[in-house]
Amino acid sequence: MAESTASTQLPRSPLPRHVAIIMDGNGRWAESRGLPRLDGHREGANSVRDVVRAARKIGLEALTLYAFSSQNWARPGSEVAGLMGLLRDYLIDERPEIMGNGIQLRAIGDIDRLPASVREPLDALSGDSAENSDMVLNLALSYGGRESIAAAAQRLAKRVAAGELDPRNINVDSFGAEMPTADVPGLDLLIRTSGEQRISNFLLWEAGYAELYFTDVLWPDFRKQALYDALEAYQARERRFGLTGAQIESGDLAP
Ligand code: IPE
Ligand code: IPE
Ligand code: MG
Repeated sequence: MAESTASTQLPRSPLPRHVAIIMDGNGRWAESRGLPRLDGHREGANSVRDVVRAARKIGLEALTLYAFSSQNWARPGSEVAGLMGLLRDYLIDERPEIMGNGIQLRAIGDIDRLPASVREPLDALSGDSAENSDMVLNLALSYGGRESIAAAAQRLAKRVAAGELDPRNINVDSFGAEMPTADVPGLDLLIRTSGEQRISNFLLWEAGYAELYFTDVLWPDFRKQALYDALEAYQARERRFGLTGAQIESGDLAP
């Protein structure tokens, strides 16, 4: 029998190139233990660390994590402040691991809305990690999918108004090029934890042909093995992109 190594436990191909996660359930994790909600967010940061490490080791090209939505600003001020504090801690504490593992950290969303205490370590780490090329870690912060689409439409409209763009040239490719995820591989797998089956304004444009995976596991309990489970489920899917199963099987994709 072959000697057991760490790599034999890793899921086999086909691996998704780009995985995104709606990290939900921190509050319920804490409340079910009689703890303050912030304790759930704190434990959730440990899941982020574990999952980023596993994703990098497996060889994913891009991981996009929904950390704070445009709508989450409406939560109680104390929870928002606590989340911003944890975000700052994460960006400072994880810096050596991110730099040491060739991870390029980026942020998508309305970053200007974040407090300076978060923006400063975020700008520093995204600047310093910009040349890293082993994996892109996209943090969705103050992010909304509709907001992102509306902002792209506004940029295109400005170019039309300036006479730089012919409206007939607005199509799926040119519109997609305006999205903040334009230069990472297309989204292959979208995971949501905590049993909710909704998108909650996450990557609306990008999820057009992503496989969706919902699990009851709460985010603070979602660790490496839970990621492997999601990847295994992904590997059992047949992605057809509108074609027939026979076309996919034969590999004859010519029109
Ligand atoms: C997800 O956990 C984290 C954020 C939205 C910031 P929640 O805080 O939404 O946890 P639940 O859904 O209330 O359990
Ligand atoms: C989505 O979770 C946002 C993040 C995980 C950051 P929410 O808990 O905010 O979403 P809803 O309210 O269940 O739709
Ligand atoms: Mg939630």
